[in-house]
Amino acid sequence: MSPENPTPSPLPEYPDLEEILVTGEQIAKRIREIGTEIADAYEDEEITVISIINGALLFTADLIRQIDNPVRVDCIRVSSYRNSTKSEKEPEILYNINLDLENRHVLLIDDILDTGKTLFMLTEAIQRMGPKSLRTCVLLNKIGRREISIDADFVGFDIPDRFVVGYGLDFAERYRNLPCIGVLHPSRQNPMEWA
Ligand code: IMP
Ligand code: MG
Repeated sequence: MSPENPTPSPLPEYPDLEEILVTGEQIAKRIREIGTEIADAYEDEEITVISIINGALLFTADLIRQIDNPVRVDCIRVSSYRNSTKSEKEPEILYNINLDLENRHVLLIDDILDTGKTLFMLTEAIQRMGPKSLRTCVLLNKIGRREISIDADFVGFDIPDRFVVGYGLDFAERYRNLPCIGVLHPSRQNPMEWA
């Protein structure tokens, strides 16, 4: 330990992370497994994938390439965290789906299931569009934070109640490009220049 650097980062490649929870290799392996689970659930049916952007961008791109079924893709954008690590506001739809969902098998994809507000609000909205079926898929399921009782049909990983970034998940639109999922170092949360 040198006086210049009294607390060296345990993660030299990712100095803004405190800890890596899921590696890129683990994500890739789990996505292949979810692809098989989805194939079993839908058999040969066409799937209409609705990706909740921006967070589910990377997960959706990798997951749909593991699905052999015919797939239609659309995106929906909701507000939630903004530049904070806490979800204070109710989510609202900022950009809506263009595809018709009536009588379609819809698979709604998000990056993380946290309080449950986003997935609950969107499943209610999609049900009103008359799909033949509606299933949900999340890469991460954050344990211990649910405010609305809702579970996803397909889950990548259960994680503890920590604020995570990477592989699509952001803090103030940063870190989405990290190949792994890690806990953002507290010193990088809410710095003045991002307020
Ligand atoms: P919920 O509505 O509270 O379930 O939150 C879901 C949304 O909040 C996700 O789509 C994410 O965009 C965001 N979110 C929740 N937890 C985290 C986190 O740990 N890091 C980054 N974004 C998160
Ligand atoms: Mg987000």
